[in-house]
Formats: sequence, structure tokens, C-alpha cells
Amino acid sequence: RKHDDFATRLLRWFDVSGRHDLPWQHPRTPYRVWLSEIMLQQTQVKTAAPYFERFVAALPTLRDLAQAPLDDVLALWSGLGYYARARNLHAAAIRCVELHGGELPRDLDALTALPGVGRSTAAAIASQAWGDRHAILDGNVKRVLSRYHGVSGYPGLPAIEKRLWQLAEQHVTGAPDARMPDYTQAQMDLGATLCTRSDPSCVLCPLQDDCVARVDGRVAELPTPKPG
Ligand code: ADE
Ligand code: SF4
Repeated sequence: RKHDDFATRLLRWFDVSGRHDLPWQHPRTPYRVWLSEIMLQQTQVKTAAPYFERFVAALPTLRDLAQAPLDDVLALWSGLGYYARARNLHAAAIRCVELHGGELPRDLDALTALPGVGRSTAAAIASQAWGDRHAILDGNVKRVLSRYHGVSGYPGLPAIEKRLWQLAEQHVTGAPDARMPDYTQAQMDLGATLCTRSDPSCVLCPLQDDCVARVDGRVAELPTPKPG
């Protein structure tokens, strides 16, 4: 399997059909990318966008967020749900001021050490904010990769997740340096708009020719549901 074809075809599709007008893409600063990724962990783009606009209008920089009372942050989050995200965001901003000179750290381990930032979120931030080469593996990407490679087994199982991370790491080597932010966004967009959980639009998919699930008629079975 030619792993660099995955990135090439995905990016060609993204140029025509991906999302290029999301509020956090203009301008794409580390603070704005981080905030958007936290919002998008449990909230869809359409719902998150107006919250994002209000949030950055009220608190335009990471220092503004760190200095704001927690109640103000929670008020800006009100309606989005999963309020631990807002508390973690505030705590992380304070930590960035204390430890990182008021900036988000570019190092993946330092990003992952921030409250609310897991491995995939850290990779999504660093690849989009600085163009660093990191694989991501959120729910969307797990779905795409388990189908594309025909990986059965519930993706929440450590062995399956490990296999999917390996595949994501192989694919990321095929993206040109200058396109790392787009490559990350393209994977999210494919999973959110074409390779959806039920009834994916395989006929429109740039990966359809060598997608194992598509070719073998197993799209509806993958990813394998949680056992029990
Ligand atoms: N989910 C997580 N990150 C996202 C992004 N950047 N765009 C769309 N959906 C996402
Ligand atoms: Fe997903 Fe269908 Fe594309 Fe395979 S061909 S990656 S199942 S949308």
C-alpha cells in the first residue's frame, strides 16, 4: 500500500471540497487553534463557531483568558456543555503564563501536559498552529482509518488504537511540509462530511479506490462497535 497516496489524494480533495472558512483558520494563531480544538472535542463545527467568535472577542489572547475570572469563562461557555473543558482551558492558560511565558508551548509533551489536552488534540494544535508534522487520531480519523485499512476490533481497545496510531503515523509522512495544517484539517473534514458514521458518501470519497471496507463491502460493519 502506498501510504503517501493517502495524503496526496486527501489534500487534492480538501482543496476543492474541504472547509477553508472556519473562524479559527483566519487568523490561525496557536491560541485560536487551541480554543477551537477544545470546543470541537465534543461539539460540532456549526454549533461551536458562534461560541468561538464570542469567546475570542471577549478574551482575544491567552493572557486575557488567564487573567479572567473563572465565572466569566464559564459564562462564555454557557450552552456548550461539558464544562470541565472551560475549567481546564482556564487552568491551562494560567499554567502557560506561569511556565511558558504566556504562550502555548510548541513541544508535544508540554502541550499534552496541559489540562484538557490529550495526544491527538496536542498533535492537532501543533500541526495547525505551527505546521509541525504530527499524526492525529480523534474519533473521525479512527473511523476513516479503520474503514480504509479494514481494521476490525473496537477502536477503544488499546491494541486496536495502537494499530490505528501506527497507520496514522505512516500516512503523515506523505504530506508535504507546507501542507501540515491542511492535512490535519482534511482528515477531520473527510470524517465529518463524507466518511460519516452511518451512510458515508463513498462515491464522492477520494480514497474509495483502495478503501478496504468499500472494496470488501464492510463499510457498515466498521469501525467495530464497542463490545458488550
Ligand atoms: N474536530 C476536532 N478538530 C476539528 C477541526 N479542526 N475541524 C473540524 N472538526 C474538528
Ligand atoms: Fe470512508 Fe467510504 Fe471513503 Fe472508505 S470510501 S474512507 S468508507 S467514505
